Amino acid sequence: MGQVDAVIAQCLSSEVALIDQIAHYIVHAGGKRMRPKLVLLFANALGFDGAARFDLAAVVEFIHTATLLHDDVVDESSLRRGKPTANALFGNAASVLVGDFLYSRAFQMMVSVNSMRVLDVLAEATNVIAEGEVLQLMNMHDPDITVESYLRVIRFKTAKLFEASARLGAVLANSTPEIEEACATYGRALGTAFQLIDDVLDYEGDAQELGKNIGDDLREGKTTLPLLIAMERGSAEQRALLRHAIEHGELEKLHEIVDIVRATGALESTREAARAEAQHASDSLKLLPRNRWTESLLEFAIRSVERSS
Ligand code: IPE
Ligand code: IPE
Ligand code: MG
Ligand code: MG
Repeated sequence: MGQVDAVIAQCLSSEVALIDQIAHYIVHAGGKRMRPKLVLLFANALGFDGAARFDLAAVVEFIHTATLLHDDVVDESSLRRGKPTANALFGNAASVLVGDFLYSRAFQMMVSVNSMRVLDVLAEATNVIAEGEVLQLMNMHDPDITVESYLRVIRFKTAKLFEASARLGAVLANSTPEIEEACATYGRALGTAFQLIDDVLDYEGDAQELGKNIGDDLREGKTTLPLLIAMERGSAEQRALLRHAIEHGELEKLHEIVDIVRATGALESTREAARAEAQHASDSLKLLPRNRWTESLLEFAIRSVERSS
């Protein structure tokens, strides 16, 4: 990961001062670097030790960071990685444009790897993430979306980049199609579990620990799984309150809503769904050789659902 950070630092710079400033600001705020870790773990697990793995790990982190810059604008978020968001500090226009810079820099970097398959995987992932964000926009303030529709959004907006990161490890290692699919399945399931927990933490997390504000989803009228389950299980009165909050994005009612979400067991059931996805991720590793990298991937799956930040 030290080498990945070196590539990131080297590729981040721009002659344009504001780009330099914002890109460094968000990248140096940290982040868990989960997607680059997946690239490295899968490449190593499958026996690839070339330098291209560091480049692609940096590429997926750039794509991720670009989506965060854009996401915080559309979500009107003010806190990210424990610091004010770029949009809060530098404004929406600068955030969107620097997000574009990071996307396009990521594409310049992936071209240097000189593999059509790599381009294919990353172009498709980037496109699907955008579809996921737009799908979610269309679902905003709609309490009647189905669980399937919610899952489709999170597979697109979040799981797809985890899937691509895992797949890239296999592509670099020139794996068989079966192994590549097993890696992709791991990434998709892990990414789904990860977003399910993100949606739990939006109700019961701790802003300090999480580095993001709690209640952002409700404020935006996002019908996430905790709310869908609570609406299904709650009384008519509770259901009416939740529906109203989704339709109007009422953050003042957050405490009342958290109480309903808790009382109906919706947070625990969402965690349960995340655990099932993590188990699915672990199961998909059975096709891979057993070594210390795949051991780490098993632990990674467990930790991504037992996290609080
Ligand atoms: C945030 O991702 C966006 C989601 C998909 C929930 P991360 O939680 O991986 O963000 P950082 O990079 O660690 O800040
Ligand atoms: C994360 O979406 C997905 C992308 C950034 C594409 P969210 O809006 O749910 O994530 P947070 O909570 O802001 O990190
Ligand atoms: Mg957001
Ligand atoms: Mg969002």
